[in-house]
Amino acid sequence: MALPKLKKEEIPNHVAVVMDGNGRWAKKRGLPRTAGHEAGEAALFDVVQGAIQIGVKELSAYAFSTENWKRSPEEVKFLMGFNIDVLRRRRDEMNDLGVKIQWVGRPNRLWKSVIKELEVAQALTKKNKVLTLNMCINYGGRSELIDAVNDIASLVSKKKLKAGSITEKELTKHLYSPKMSDVDLFLRTSGEHRTSNFLPWQSVYAELVFMDVLWPDVTRQTLWDAIEIYASRERRFGKA
Ligand code: IPE
Ligand code: IPE
Ligand code: MG
Repeated sequence: MALPKLKKEEIPNHVAVVMDGNGRWAKKRGLPRTAGHEAGEAALFDVVQGAIQIGVKELSAYAFSTENWKRSPEEVKFLMGFNIDVLRRRRDEMNDLGVKIQWVGRPNRLWKSVIKELEVAQALTKKNKVLTLNMCINYGGRSELIDAVNDIASLVSKKKLKAGSITEKELTKHLYSPKMSDVDLFLRTSGEHRTSNFLPWQSVYAELVFMDVLWPDVTRQTLWDAIEIYASRERRFGKA
């Protein structure tokens, strides 16, 4: 594996990853879907290390969407328990690497035991500055915007905000993680070309890169390859 030679300005500050393809990876091997999720853990933590090596400052990992409740009760239960295990198993290692873990998602419906584990990991790593790892669990872009709109509406009704005066900056304050920066590189694995309700507000000017690799087969090299593609793009932000 070789770290690509890129200039500092060619490295994305914030990378969002849709970790897709675990089920298909398992199916190809005649294994249950859950074995695919288990195999995906190593991929995520290799990508975290690769992100640190190349100088990415923020990484958002889509681990469970608000639509994933539609899966079988067995798979949902597995994923809840698995997220708890991963957080417990990896938090010290992440802390040693200087990773700040941040939960991004909707509290409603998410298992209390998962929220508790996320809070423990957040408290442990809150002072870290090397990389922010946004664990997006029970995250949905529409739910994020709806929850923000409801917050704002309630402030308007209490006369703490004025209708007609809501700015981008104000709306951003009500997102699940107000400090999150705009996404520079949006990466999805497994060959699917869609964003599946991940970070719509933050990704309006992200460069989209779709890779034909199943998530458990991903390594830091996959991230670096995606970053090379990103570096070759011309970002214009609407300018001529
Ligand atoms: C992504 O892999 C992991 C989660 C959504 C939790 P999938 O489980 O969606 O795998 P495929 O898309 O069925 O292969
Ligand atoms: C997106 O993948 C959600 C996560 C990776 C957590 P899905 O597999 O749920 O998305 P769709 O159903 O293919 O759009
Ligand atoms: Mg999928």
